[in-house]
Amino acid sequence: MTCSKKTVHLTILPEVNKGCGLPVPVNFIFVPLPPQIITLAVYRPTTMSADPITIFRKTWGTYQKVISNNLMFHKEISEAVAKRYETHSGQLRLLDLGCGDASHITNILKPGQLAEYCGCDLSPYALDDAGINLAPLGIPVTLLCRDMLAVLHEVDENHFDIVYSSYALHHLPVEAKQTFFTQCRRALSLDGCIILVDIMREEEQSRTEYLCHYNKTVRTQWQALTPDERNQVQEHIRSCDFPETPSTLETLARHAGFTRCRRLEKRTWHEAWCYEA
Ligand SMILES: C[S@@+](CC[C@H](N)C(=O)[O-])C[C@H]1O[C@@H](n2cnc3c(N)ncnc32)[C@H](O)[C@@H]1O
Repeated sequence: MTCSKKTVHLTILPEVNKGCGLPVPVNFIFVPLPPQIITLAVYRPTTMSADPITIFRKTWGTYQKVISNNLMFHKEISEAVAKRYETHSGQLRLLDLGCGDASHITNILKPGQLAEYCGCDLSPYALDDAGINLAPLGIPVTLLCRDMLAVLHEVDENHFDIVYSSYALHHLPVEAKQTFFTQCRRALSLDGCIILVDIMREEEQSRTEYLCHYNKTVRTQWQALTPDERNQVQEHIRSCDFPETPSTLETLARHAGFTRCRRLEKRTWHEAWCYEA
């Protein structure tokens, strides 16, 4: 699939209207893990049967509240990523994996900096909003209601300048995260980079400890949500969130050929990283 050849101007491709199919993740090619993280693959819970996007499929409203109340530090993270591009004058081709409503992109890149935007997400509700949010850019926009790894496998080699993914990668098992990095390397131009925004465990923090701390924050500090919404979010986190530590992600990135890995921002467990070849 070539995004530049098959662009539709703010039209969500037909898959959206047919529905997006059933639980993810779907078909990813197995990529052997680097030896350093084999133990993590073993420790991974055996089932990831919960649908990681139930909460986003049902409604986009709860997550919209999370964004507008800055509960996951979208504001600070977007500012830090924007800084990385403030002096960039070229026209960038951007692939946004798990794009949600794409509301952050217009805060990160100035008008004129983007030549092409291709976003994918499994939630048709989110993509409806993404179409509206991206309209002011006036550039070719492709929105796909598809799994991010399936999209990554199909895009042309060396096509994009940025692969951006925000708060979506932690839903994938570690083998699929390796595939993500490997396929990003293939999809990116030689001087392109991944901008990864995601929740990350502290080094040495187990997933159980992480869940306990994060959910305590949701219970005690996410007052902008109703009690029912807070319960839904906690349930989603317990069953669908599999964050890695920054060093594990760096190992995966290096294994895929990214040699320069640097943190752009960190707010509690919410981090932004840039990976370059
Ligand atoms: C927490 S939201 C983040 C949305 C947006 N990127 C942001 O930062 O606000 C996670 C998004 O990832 C999407 N998602 C989860 N797994 C996915 C997958 N395998 N492929 C594509 N999208 C996925 C969900 O539908 C949801 O919209």
